[in-house]
Amino acid sequence: MTKVVIVGSGGREHALADVIGRDADVIVTPGNPIIPNSTPTSPSEIDADLYVIGPEAPLVDGLADQLREQGKLVFGPGADGAQLEGSKAWMKDLVMEAGVPTAQHGTFTDIIQAQTYLETMAAPYVIKTDGLAAGKGVLVTDSLDDARVAIEEYLSGTAFGGAGEKIVLEEGLLGPEISILAISDGKKAVALSPAQDFKRLHNNDLGPNTGGMGAYSPVPIATPTLVEDVLNNFIQPTIAALRQRGIDYRGVLYAGLMITEEGPKLLEYNVRFGDPEAQVVLPRFESSLTELLIEASRGEIQTPPRFTNDAMVTVVCATEGYPVSPRVGDRITGMEEASSSKGIEKVYVAGISLDEEQQPVTAGGRVLAVTGRGVTIESARQNAYTGAEKIHWEGLHKRQDIAEGI
Ligand code: AMP
Ligand code: GLY
Repeated sequence: MTKVVIVGSGGREHALADVIGRDADVIVTPGNPIIPNSTPTSPSEIDADLYVIGPEAPLVDGLADQLREQGKLVFGPGADGAQLEGSKAWMKDLVMEAGVPTAQHGTFTDIIQAQTYLETMAAPYVIKTDGLAAGKGVLVTDSLDDARVAIEEYLSGTAFGGAGEKIVLEEGLLGPEISILAISDGKKAVALSPAQDFKRLHNNDLGPNTGGMGAYSPVPIATPTLVEDVLNNFIQPTIAALRQRGIDYRGVLYAGLMITEEGPKLLEYNVRFGDPEAQVVLPRFESSLTELLIEASRGEIQTPPRFTNDAMVTVVCATEGYPVSPRVGDRITGMEEASSSKGIEKVYVAGISLDEEQQPVTAGGRVLAVTGRGVTIESARQNAYTGAEKIHWEGLHKRQDIAEGI
């Protein structure tokens, strides 16, 4: 059987392990106490047919390059291509060159120049760190004062250290947001079934931005025509612009899009599967995810993916204090009851460790995600929430309105 190593330890990697595990032997490194076959062994010391790198940080740091140098077959861009996520200024330059529709912007390292540009902008103001900031580097605000303070804090290095010493100031876009993930073999790409992620911490899209509090797939507003448009006018031109720079991009190209009145516009590119989008898109694979990732890694996708007709909704359970200062160490109950609840696809685990009695306790901000399946989004939603209600710990926080009224 094909042997696949997955690098990472979160809910996304749990979903990858589950779906790749349908037709391959899977090892996850470092994984977590709940993901089967987790090991602390470094990927370069494990012999396998394919290496799938989950998170952005090791991609930006060049793990894919290192493994390729050892002759391994790797799914994930090298450090050059990973700059699409690792440097927002680099990404903006590339997509402007490629003619991809995106928010107007300016890139700054100087506080006075940034403040001067800010005065020419209209609310909402969008300020982004150039570098990776664990998903927290973006501020969207209607307050000019808050924007001024943020520019000062970002550029002086007090807010995000080196990641914020260059910033992108961006036109605020309005409209629903969707995630379209494509798989690129370096020359062409195929789209996965779209997903929508709920980024804010609280119901009704209130509170701070998070890594994502829930998601669903498929997305009714993401019609086949829209997906085609995004492939032809966003993804393909981006792959072509990468090639022009000598970059052979084999991995996920995840387009975060705002559907504005003028049509879709690019908010961001991620160079990996979304989390929690993976927990709703991957289980809907009908064709083999393993085969697709192998083909993409070899530089020749032959078979476009097929998805089941059912819907998936995932609800993230987070700890008190997330995303600022997650409280950890609380005993978790009800995971088995949730897993066996009607219509539950899976409880995907991200932030859990085991205490001295080998019982699960919270160990991170986003602890787990409960994915429900259904014929409709509404039935998947009900199943996900019925399952999630069985899980408890002190201070558990989840949104109640994931995929409501879709
Ligand atoms: P990013 O990491 O660039 O996707 O930004 C995180 C979140 O901030 C996005 O998912 C959007 O909700 C929001 N955001 C980013 N850029 C913009 C923009 N230009 N206009 C409005 N909201 C934005
Ligand atoms: N859910 C958004 C992300 O993975 O960046």
